This record gives sequence, C-alpha cells and structure tokens, in this order.
Amino acid sequence: MSIKPFDRPDTYYESPVLTFPEPRSFSLSIRATALVFEDPKSRELLDRLERIAPSSASALIIGETGTGKELIARHIHALSERGNRSFVAVNCASLSESLIETELFGHERGAFTGAVSEKAGWFETAHGGTLFLDEIGDLPPSIQVKLLRVLQEREVVRVGSRKSIPINVRMIAATNVDLKAAVQAGRFREDLYYRLSVAPIYLPPLRERPGDILPLAHHYLRIYAERIGQAEAHISPEAERRMQEYSWPGNIRELENVIHYALLVCPGATLRPEDLHFSAASTQQSAVAPAAQPESDELERALRNLFDKNPPSLYDLVEKTTISTAYNFCERNQVHTARLLNISRNVLRARLIRYQLL
Ligand SMILES: Nc1ncnc2c1ncn2[C@@H]1O[C@H](COP(=O)(O)OP(=O)(O)OP(=O)(O)O)[C@@H](O)[C@H]1O
Ligand SMILES: [Mg+2]
Repeated sequence: MSIKPFDRPDTYYESPVLTFPEPRSFSLSIRATALVFEDPKSRELLDRLERIAPSSASALIIGETGTGKELIARHIHALSERGNRSFVAVNCASLSESLIETELFGHERGAFTGAVSEKAGWFETAHGGTLFLDEIGDLPPSIQVKLLRVLQEREVVRVGSRKSIPINVRMIAATNVDLKAAVQAGRFREDLYYRLSVAPIYLPPLRERPGDILPLAHHYLRIYAERIGQAEAHISPEAERRMQEYSWPGNIRELENVIHYALLVCPGATLRPEDLHFSAASTQQSAVAPAAQPESDELERALRNLFDKNPPSLYDLVEKTTISTAYNFCERNQVHTARLLNISRNVLRARLIRYQLL
C-alpha cells in the first residue's frame, strides 16, 4: 500500500491517492483501485484507520449509503497482518433468515432438506482473515444471538452438527442505520453492539467533507475518460460549482455515476452543468422529511374517496400501491426505496416478494 500523487500532473495536482498493490486481486469493482482522501476530515479518518488496522479488534463502520464502507473495510484488512488472507464480505440484508444462518455458520450433510453435502460457512472460509458483515442492522434477532455466541466462544458449530470448530476471524461490520437507536428500540442486541463496536469508525457523508468532492470528480473523470479512450476531459468551473453545492445523498457512488454519465452525454471535452444529472430520488430527499400536515390531509382525502368506492382488500391495495409506487419512483433501487419509506430493507424485500414486485 503506497501513497502516491496522481501520475497525470496536468489533471489533478497533488491529491493523495492510495493505490492497492494488486488492484485486480480484490473483487469490489475495477473502479475501486484507489482511494481519494483529500478533505481534512478524510485525512484524519485515514490516520485513524492506520492506527486501528494492525490490531484484530472488531470494527464497526457507520456511514450513509455510498460513503465507502466496504472500501474502508477492505482497506483495514489490507493494512492488517491478515492482508494476505481471505476477506469475506456478506450482505446481511440480501439473505433470508434461514439462508444467512447456513451461509454464516455452514451446515452438515442432511441438516435440512436439500443439504446434499456438507458446507463450510463464511466464518470458516474467513479463517485467519477478515469477515465483513454489511448492513448488520438487518440481522434477524435469532442470528444476532448465534453471532454473539460465535464471537464470545471463538468457535462455530455448523447447522446440524454438535462439533465446534475453532475460528480466528477479525470482524468488521457496517451499518447505514443508527444502530444505537436500533438497540434502544429493542431491534438490536446491546451486548452484540458492544462486541462489534470495539473500534467504531464514523464515515462522514460527502456533504460533510466537501474537500473530497472535486478530487473525487477528477479522479473518476480520469478513470472513465481513459476507459472510453478519450484523451482529455475537463470540468467547467460552473459544473464544479454545482457539484460543490449539491448535497450528494447517494455520496461517492452517486458522484461516480454522475461523472460517468456526464462523460457519455457531453458533446465536447469539458463537462458542462447541463451534463450533470443528479439523481431524481435524491433531489426529492428533502421532500420526504417529516410528514407535514398538508400531505396527510391530501392522503386522508384520497383514502376517504377510496372508502366511498369500497374496493376489495383495501388495506392490501393501499400497502401494495405505496410499495410499488415508491419502488418505481426510486427506479427499482431497494436501498433508496427503503430509505424513502423509512423501513428496513428486509421489510421492504418481504413486501416486494409478497406483492410479486421482484
Ligand atoms: N475514498 C474513496 N476514493 C475513491 N472511491 C471511493 C472512495 N470511497 C468509496 N469509493 C467508491 O464509492 C463507491 C461506493 O463505495 P462502497 O461500496 O464501499 O460504499 P458503501 O458505503 O459500502 O455503500 P452501500 O451502503 O450502498 O453498501 C465504490 O465504487 C467505491 O469504489
Ligand atoms: Mg456496502
């Protein structure tokens, strides 16, 4: 891991970039070959990561969607002495309760219908390395208990087995919801929370580290211009100003997409303000904030009209319409839809499945 300036002196001055020695060897995305840390807040974060990395302490990364939680987790892993062992990343929100149990802890042959052979879980796969549990806030309560036991005992028992297998794994968890609030609301175990957050790492949203916006924009401009074989690409001062003023609710991932798209639609070599397409769902964000009275009045009127017509299964109809309209509004992006409706991604997925919207 080395810090080096951009190798194109004409593009973006002395922005420090962290380059992974074998970028292709890590599977996140081919874009994620370097990290930009320019804002003083990001530099501070980088220092902290370097201090935390060598220990095997569990880390909890807290940050909004697209702030780079997975990238940071991989960075901690790469900087630690486990760096040449496996890094296993699991998204807790994308799996059903039964699947997550067998995937995490493994299972014996015949443990359940369809378990035709034995299978090691991710804990075993990550032995000697790092296990990254993303969206930990979505972990079902029964799995939270089992996870706590594994972390306390440092051994796993496969589903359908009695034998415990010792494991040596560093845990890094990530969340984009306020886990402390989830603890207070009784949705997340307090003992597990403390066990996971020995080293808490708060990843600020992009709007709180404005010094990163332009270096990241130029970083992605260089990458995407190269990829499409364009010799040079620039950003007009007005487009830069717009980017600095924007709130970036989708954070770095959104910025990357905005630059990529702008480059594709821009007729010349300089990105103009009109080439920048900020996401529709995100620009609506302020409108989703606390439900104001006029909105609930409007909703009440619509419901009263519906009651007059007395359609069948009214409650299901209202729920299905809410879910499907929000899902389409967010261009079928589950993370955005869950955020818009202020429900967890697990609950959203369950509804999408129930109403056959997936
Ligand atoms: N410091 C950085 N420098 C350059 N690129 C970055 C940096 N941080 C994040 N990225 C890029 O931003 C994108 C989002 O990062 P990542 O997937 O790690 O975010 P996340 O917080 O895990 O998002 P989500 O909550 O949606 O899972 C990736 O393409 C990643 O390469
Ligand atoms: Mg992630």
